[in-house]
Amino acid sequence: MAVVSIIGPKGGIGKTTLSINTAAALTRLLPPRDKKSDNRVCLFDLDLRLPTISSLLDSHPNKSFYDLFETLANKTWQIDFLRNFYQIISRFQWFLEGRIDAGDENLARCLAHFRNFNAELFLFTEFPQGDLLHELILDRNRVLAPKDLTLLRPILDRLDMDAFRQTLKRHENNSWPIVEEFIKYIEEYHFSILGGEIPILGKKAHRKRINEPELLLLFLDVLGKVLKRYDYVILDTPAGGVHHLSSLINVIDQVIFVFDLSNNIAVNGSIDALHSFIDYYEDFYQDFQDHKLTGLDKAHAQRLVAERGEEAVLNSLKNKKLGIVFNRCQNTREIPPSLKKLREYLDTLDKLETYKDRIQIVGMVPHHKVINITNNRGALFYNKDQGLTGHVDQIAQSILGADARPTLNSPDKDILRFLKIQNWLGFSKKLGRIASI
Ligand SMILES: Nc1ncnc2c1ncn2[C@@H]1O[C@H](COP(=O)(O)OP(=O)(O)O)[C@@H](O)[C@H]1O
Ligand SMILES: [Mg+2]
Repeated sequence: MAVVSIIGPKGGIGKTTLSINTAAALTRLLPPRDKKSDNRVCLFDLDLRLPTISSLLDSHPNKSFYDLFETLANKTWQIDFLRNFYQIISRFQWFLEGRIDAGDENLARCLAHFRNFNAELFLFTEFPQGDLLHELILDRNRVLAPKDLTLLRPILDRLDMDAFRQTLKRHENNSWPIVEEFIKYIEEYHFSILGGEIPILGKKAHRKRINEPELLLLFLDVLGKVLKRYDYVILDTPAGGVHHLSSLINVIDQVIFVFDLSNNIAVNGSIDALHSFIDYYEDFYQDFQDHKLTGLDKAHAQRLVAERGEEAVLNSLKNKKLGIVFNRCQNTREIPPSLKKLREYLDTLDKLETYKDRIQIVGMVPHHKVINITNNRGALFYNKDQGLTGHVDQIAQSILGADARPTLNSPDKDILRFLKIQNWLGFSKKLGRIASI
C-alpha cells in the first residue's frame, strides 16, 4: 500500500481538485488485479473541518467521519475507558484483599494511571454503576500511595464487579465501528471514497475530544484498517496539514505539494509552506530516530513499528518521496522564476543541498475553465479534456514511480520539456493553441 498526501499551503489552490482527478488517473493506469476487483484506489477526504469530496462527486458513504467520530467518542472510547477502569479497580481490590502487596509493580502502574487518566470525557451516567465510578474519580487525589487505597474501600465495597463484567461484555461486540460502512465505491469511477460531508469539528464536544490522544489513536487505528485494503490511497489533505492527524501525515510514503502559480503572493506562500513542511518532516524524522516522539506521535509510531518493524518505518520516513505539482499555470514561462525563487529560498535556509535532488517535479496543471466547470457540475475533469488528462496522467505516473522525474536540481529547460511533453501528446489536434502555452 502506498499513501500519497496531496497537500498545500491554503484553501482554494486545487488540492481537492487534483486529489479527485489523480485518483481517477491512477485507477485507469493501474492494471486491474482481476476483473472483479478493480477497487484498488481510495480517495480519502482528510478535511475534518470542511469535507467536500462526497458532495463534489455526489457520492455518499453510508456513514461519514462524523458518525465514525460519534461511534468512537461515544462507544469505543467509552468502552476502552471502562475496560481500563475495570482492570485498575481489580488490582486495587486484590491489594485490599491482601492478594498482592504494596510493592507490586502493576499496582504502582494502576495507581499512577488512576491518578492521571482523563475522565472528563467519560459519560458516567450512561453506564450502570457510573455514579460509583464517578465517586472514585472524585476521591482519587487522596490516594497517593497503596496504603491510601483503604480510603476507597467504602466505595469499592458497593461496586458489583460481576455486574461490571457483564456491562463490558454487553458492549464488547458492538463498540467497534464497521469499516465497510464508511467506504463508498463509486461504480462510475472505479475508486472508493472515504470521508464525509458534515464537518466533524463543527460540534463543540468534538472540538474538545479531538485533542484526546486516546481517541485520536482509535481514529488512526480505524483509518489504518481501511487504508490497508487499497494499493493506493490519495489523501486530500487540508491546508497546512491536519494538526490532529499529523501522526498520519508523518508516516506516509509520498507527498505531493500543490504549488499555486496564480499570482505572486500565492507563489511566495507556496514556497514558505514547502519549507515549513520540510522543517516539520525533519523534526519528526529526527525525533523518531532518537526515540523522542511524544504523545500521539509516539503511540502511533509504536504501533507502526510493531506492525512493520522499526527498519521499515525508518526507511519509509527516510525515503519519503517529495514532489511538486504546479497548479493554475497560465503560461509555462511562469515556472522558471518560481523555481528560481524556491531554490534561492531553500538555499538561504541551507536546505537546497539536501533537497535539490530529492524534490521531484511531478507535474503541472494549467489554469483551465473546464476544471471549474466540471467541478461545479460534480464531475471529474479528467475524462473531459484530453490535454488535461495528459497532465493528470503525468502526476499519476509519478506516483506509480514510472521513470525518472526532473528534480529541483534539473536545468529549467529539462523541467519545462518534461512538463510540456504531455501537452503535445494530449493536444495533438490542437497544436496551434498549445504553442502559446
Ligand atoms: N487549474 C485550475 N484551473 C481552474 N480552476 C481551478 C484549477 N485548480 C482548481 N481550480 C478551482 O479552484 C477552486 C478551488 O479548488 P479546490 O480543489 O477546492 O482547492 P482546495 O482543495 O485547495 O481548497 C475550485 O473551484 C476549482 O474548480
Ligand atoms: Mg479542498
